[in-house]
Amino acid sequence: MRRRLAAGNWKMNGTRANLDELRALVQAHPSPGCDVLICPPATLLERAARLCEGTAISCGGQDCHTEPKGAHTGDISAEMLVDAGAEYVILGHSERRADHGETDDMVDAKVQAAWRAGLVAIVCVGESEAQRDAGDTLKVVGAQLAGSLPEGADGDNVVVAYEPIWAIGTGRVPTLGEISEVHDFIRAELTDRFGPETADSIRLLYGGSMNPGNAAEIISVANVDGGLVGGASLKAADFGAIIDALSA
Ligand code: 13P
Repeated sequence: MRRRLAAGNWKMNGTRANLDELRALVQAHPSPGCDVLICPPATLLERAARLCEGTAISCGGQDCHTEPKGAHTGDISAEMLVDAGAEYVILGHSERRADHGETDDMVDAKVQAAWRAGLVAIVCVGESEAQRDAGDTLKVVGAQLAGSLPEGADGDNVVVAYEPIWAIGTGRVPTLGEISEVHDFIRAELTDRFGPETADSIRLLYGGSMNPGNAAEIISVANVDGGLVGGASLKAADFGAIIDALSA
């Protein structure tokens, strides 16, 4: 059985003061009924990881470089994330694909770097509004999945997050039928490529305007194994309510 995962992506938000929210979250959820992950900005990662040490909450990075070290000003390697206390890393988020021109090939290489360091890679896929309107959603998601996931992916080293770009930070959420269609498709694509046993072990997260009000119905969709939460992960009360919904 896949254990559900509530993953918070703080994006470029948070200074030390925001760790009070994480502290409150940790205190309120000593033994959550799902896996819980917070991905703070790199500047807070070590502090966040210390705060979560010995608790049920894990920490992760939001990106990594492909190389373990070297002359890459401003970049952070997967090994450095591990050194700071990360267990996961988000890769290929649509904001990185858009802001930094990340291609599927680059994401694939970053996933391999994450594995080299012992991190679980959360690989993000998702269509733009124009692509959905053109009826290309499954084609786009299928191509991203094929191009971004290296051979050797399994439930212990990869999580896939479906995040329709038009739902991120907009308050617009796909219908449950739309979520279901894409998640079933992703499971089928994983089955084709990796076989049923491996495909069934890989957790599929939904991301895009998930909040305490819609988490319970979204998690009720087959093949949705958790959420990748942006804005609502910044407040302990909101993210805590999502954790509760995913734990039910
Ligand atoms: P929001 O929850 O703010 O829409 O962000 C989703 C997301 O991009 C998580 O990675």
